[in-house]
Amino acid sequence: MSSKLIAPSILAADFGNLQRDIEMVNNSEADWFHIDVMDGHFVPNISYGMPVIAAIKKHATKPLDVHLMIEKPERYIEEFAKVGADIITVHYESTVHLHRTLRQIKDAGCKAGVVLNITTPLVVLEDILPECYMVLLMSINPGFGGQKFEDVTYKRIKNLRQMIDAQGLDTRIEIDGGVTDQNIQRLVEAGADTFVAGSHVFGSDNPTATIKTLRELANS
Ligand code: DX5
Ligand code: ZN
Repeated sequence: MSSKLIAPSILAADFGNLQRDIEMVNNSEADWFHIDVMDGHFVPNISYGMPVIAAIKKHATKPLDVHLMIEKPERYIEEFAKVGADIITVHYESTVHLHRTLRQIKDAGCKAGVVLNITTPLVVLEDILPECYMVLLMSINPGFGGQKFEDVTYKRIKNLRQMIDAQGLDTRIEIDGGVTDQNIQRLVEAGADTFVAGSHVFGSDNPTATIKTLRELANS
């Protein structure tokens, strides 16, 4: 299986000290920045958009993993690419022409991924998997950080890994929501390889050490 990656979620950073928190991630063992974009329609919360991502890009030395929780994301793909997104994931539930949207992401020079809400059946991925660099399985209801991990995710990871293997692909499986040092190893055993962590990292006394621990546990 591919190497395990840790993507701290900027949603849980201190926005008054954003540059400090970006430098922390730069200097840590983290692999990516996870950036949650929310529009107040697809999810009941509003986060940030292009100007903030452009500001993060100015300081970040690692790839930006941009998770779009917005309706009709196809309207903004080129703009997110322009401000510095490296990976763009869109919700299956948010776009009618998913295949076209993924092509649009790739044409804009980014890696493309699909996100599924907790109750969206995995079977919808069957024919689109070859187009996906990554599948993000939500392990909470999207919209807010700091929620409790939903156990149904373990079964979903196992089934998705089987589906990916059956097609002979090496698609990443990213898990987002409630990831901690208590569940990351079980998530790896189930077949996940990419982990978003927000409150567990930024809410800890020593975020750099917390990232290091997550990385070690994921790779052990
Ligand atoms: C929520 C976001 C997550 C969030 C995770 O909709 O997609 O990326 O930041 O936060 P934690 O790790 O605190 O559950
Ligand atoms: Zn996210």
